[in-house]
Amino acid sequence: MDTSDFQNNPMDQFEQWFLQAQGKMPSGSLGLSERLEKKLSPLIRRVFSAVFPSMDRFEYNAVFLATANKEGVPSSRVVLLKGYDEKGFRFYTNYNSRKAKELDENPKASLCFYWGLPPRQVRIEGDVEKLSYDESNKYWLSRPRGSRLSALASEQSSPISSREELDEEVKELEKKYEGQEIPCPENWGGYLLKPHTYEFWQGMPSRNHIRLQYKKNQEGSWQKSWLQP
Ligand SMILES: Cc1cc2nc3c(=O)[nH]c(=O)nc-3n(C[C@H](O)[C@H](O)[C@H](O)COP(=O)(O)O)c2cc1C
Repeated sequence: MDTSDFQNNPMDQFEQWFLQAQGKMPSGSLGLSERLEKKLSPLIRRVFSAVFPSMDRFEYNAVFLATANKEGVPSSRVVLLKGYDEKGFRFYTNYNSRKAKELDENPKASLCFYWGLPPRQVRIEGDVEKLSYDESNKYWLSRPRGSRLSALASEQSSPISSREELDEEVKELEKKYEGQEIPCPENWGGYLLKPHTYEFWQGMPSRNHIRLQYKKNQEGSWQKSWLQP
């Protein structure tokens, strides 16, 4: 195997692995021909999800997001990837949450995906910026009404005295917005992570794992290099 087996653009490589993780594209990891994998993959996935029921609920776009405050103290949590293109990776959250405060202080972050079939990890590092209100609002309007009400009610990452307090708040908002559109609040929206480094890891027999790193150079093109497992 050499680096030419991987796409020149890491975003294309990401897309390939992302689709393969969902079984939407053959990955070759089952040792079958592409034609046979296409035919058998849905069946194999059905068998797997019968044995491991949690596979059915697997969210392929769930990703660990790591941030750090201005002192460099790290924190991480899962968010859902809600879009990617040549500009970067998009996720949405509350702009007063802990992660958002850390991103205000230190607008750098890393994302870490893990998929089990085939065993793969993708690490992505980059600079982060807020999306425009218009872009956030577009995604906000696509969310189910219940999710919008909960997001409106929640001061994410702040303490509450009881869960009932939050339920009451949601009920009041339900009444307030009955028959009306729920506007996207100013303190809720998306971020764009603009990647400068990627690492693609694939588990291999005898721990001889594949690790390929892409780094953006000063001219803006991508340099690939193998890393030791
Ligand atoms: C599967 C999963 C998906 C999640 N998706 C999001 C998300 O897209 N946005 C978000 O703000 N929180 C999401 N969360 C909750 C976060 O992990 C976290 O609890 C919350 O954002 C507060 O984090 P913070 O206090 O570090 O800001 C998700 C959690 C899980 C387990």
